[in-house]
Amino acid sequence: MTCIEVFAPAKINLALHVTGQRADGYHLLDSLVAFAPVGDVLQLRPAEALSLTLAGPESAGLSPGPDNLALRGAALVAAGQGAAIHLAKHLPVASGIGGGSADAAAAVRGMLALRGTEAPAGLGQDLLALGADLPMCRMNAPLRARGIGEVLEPLSLPPLPALLVNPRLPVATPAIFRALACRSNPPLPEALPVFAGPEPLIDWLAWQRNDLQPAACAVEPAIGAVLDALRQLPGCRLARMSGSGATCFGLFDTEAEALQAAQLLRAARSGWWIAPAVLGDQTQRATPRRQ
Ligand code: C5P
Repeated sequence: MTCIEVFAPAKINLALHVTGQRADGYHLLDSLVAFAPVGDVLQLRPAEALSLTLAGPESAGLSPGPDNLALRGAALVAAGQGAAIHLAKHLPVASGIGGGSADAAAAVRGMLALRGTEAPAGLGQDLLALGADLPMCRMNAPLRARGIGEVLEPLSLPPLPALLVNPRLPVATPAIFRALACRSNPPLPEALPVFAGPEPLIDWLAWQRNDLQPAACAVEPAIGAVLDALRQLPGCRLARMSGSGATCFGLFDTEAEALQAAQLLRAARSGWWIAPAVLGDQTQRATPRRQ
């Protein structure tokens, strides 16, 4: 029987500036995003109706019901066709790296591949209505996101060695936006430099921010502990939170340094989710494969 397998990569906000707020309460952002070769895996098989089963190390506490973003994403493009979706969850839930949004975007790609059809007109708006991170999670390659996440510009970034760390505490995004002390901060520089490698990119990123980080550290102090632990690892050039947390990332000049840092941190913090990853373009891995 046909089986479509789709990879749903983690999205990492290398910088996230909160530049204003819309009348409907959503915040305007200016964010630099890259994707990790770490993510969830969806399998879709033809079926009478849409259904979802869950497995994987991070699936505990997640509902396979109609509210699950993977089902809601698939439903957007199902056009009456069914699919049995199996989701292997490897990304911690509610963790600032797009897990649910990545699943929804992957379900859309998988459902379209199962049906052998192209994305319908207006899909972008439907995705945005499901979640502000969904449009960017469709791209899976480095980008700059503005608006509330719907104005997307592809970027060329060098592969960036990183260590992703989550203290296994879910964080509710609305609570972090509510806790912001300032809602109108400077955007990223209008013109971004061309980076020759990870070293100049990290130097440049050090001048940028995640404006949600102070609020998130106040709401969930474990995030501060993760950032401190990352900063103390040999070779860690920059430690920052992704999205609204709690996942943080450390950046390194080389992949070997990131791998060594992962070993050291795993030995010290057995309860944390720790994933070394070279951030960049994951479009190839995220393309649906027929099995
Ligand atoms: O769109 P999404 O469901 O991911 O957003 C969750 C919540 O986070 C929104 O209801 C809103 O409170 C907040 N949010 C925001 N500005 C954004 C994205 C999310 O205020 N750009």
